Amino acid sequence: MTKSNGASRRIILKGGAALAAASTVPTGWAIAQSKPLKVGLMLPYSGTFAQLGENITHAVEMYLAEKGGKLGGRDVQFIKLDDESKPDLGPQNAERLVKRDAVDVLIGTVHSGVQMGIHKVVKESGTLTIMPNAGNVALTRDLCAKNVFRTSFSNWQPAYAMGVHLAKKGVKKASWITWDYAAGTESGQGFKEGLEANGGQFVSLLTLKFPETNFQPLLAQIQGLGVDAIGAFFAGGGAVQFVKDYAAAGIKVPLCGSGFLTEGTLGGQGAAADGIETALHYGDGLENAKNTAFRAAFKAKAGREADVYAVQGYDAAQLLAAGLEAVKGNLEDEKTLYKAMESAKIDSPRGSISMSPSHNVVQDIYLRKVTAGQNKVMSTIVTQLADPGTGCKI
Ligand code: PHB
Repeated sequence: MTKSNGASRRIILKGGAALAAASTVPTGWAIAQSKPLKVGLMLPYSGTFAQLGENITHAVEMYLAEKGGKLGGRDVQFIKLDDESKPDLGPQNAERLVKRDAVDVLIGTVHSGVQMGIHKVVKESGTLTIMPNAGNVALTRDLCAKNVFRTSFSNWQPAYAMGVHLAKKGVKKASWITWDYAAGTESGQGFKEGLEANGGQFVSLLTLKFPETNFQPLLAQIQGLGVDAIGAFFAGGGAVQFVKDYAAAGIKVPLCGSGFLTEGTLGGQGAAADGIETALHYGDGLENAKNTAFRAAFKAKAGREADVYAVQGYDAAQLLAAGLEAVKGNLEDEKTLYKAMESAKIDSPRGSISMSPSHNVVQDIYLRKVTAGQNKVMSTIVTQLADPGTGCKI
């Protein structure tokens, strides 16, 4: 694969250097800088995760508008691509943005399987990439890359905290139910580790194919498992359906999960979600000035309440801005750019966050309980939790 993106920048610079020698004409860098920064938004705009992609987009656009339409002194041009949450199309869609559209930056995506495809492409092209959701653990563990950052979470993080909370409150046995792909199985692993580290027992992992919603065969097994709690990872439209089906089945075992289960979904879930406990790095009623302003601005732009996906999108834009400001819009200065992003302390609506050495978010994980149609924050389960990955050599 050619380094199309970097190469085109280099051509501009070379031409510019020659021109600069002739004195008054602008330097290559000035020419490059006068061009808008092309930012690819590779996100789901259709399918079960469509609203997640839309909220990320609204929040990125909102941040740019707050900054007067410029980042690091440069105008920004967005190029949007609907990845449909289809892993098979991941590599070709990422190549379209990187090669055909020659984006300078790629912000994407939501689905862990699609993210794997993006990663293969951008690791090779060197395109600066920010993951605004997908939690695929390998990408900030052994497959980490110097040009790839994440402003969301690793699949392990919220589920681990949920396991910790359950075991500490005396739950002895629990199972995890989810879609059979990275986000589901890796969150199940986090849940298991949190539970077992605090004296609980992980009984089983129950799965169905993504994005299927025929939950009945799995729900029929739950009473027979002999567990005190069921943990779940589902999100978007699938989570709405799952929570409704779980309540309708009249299952007595309490349902909990990583917070995506009830995030941005409560309108559709209604009373079926009442009382569900989840763990996440965001929740309703978090009181800090940033969050108050963020929520009001998001509602004015999107016409609906903000959620964790909006927060992660907003922080992707904040992290990008931190890097671009340090290099005054010059992405060629990679050393300074990455250093600024690695050391950024971001004032997020979720509270303050920083980057781990492998470019994943270090953050507080909250316990939330669905109360009066909100994911009300009850307590902090783990303070400044880092993903345990150690394999990264950036
Ligand atoms: C993922 O695929 O990593 C994923 C998707 C949706 C979520 C969380 C994680 O809400």
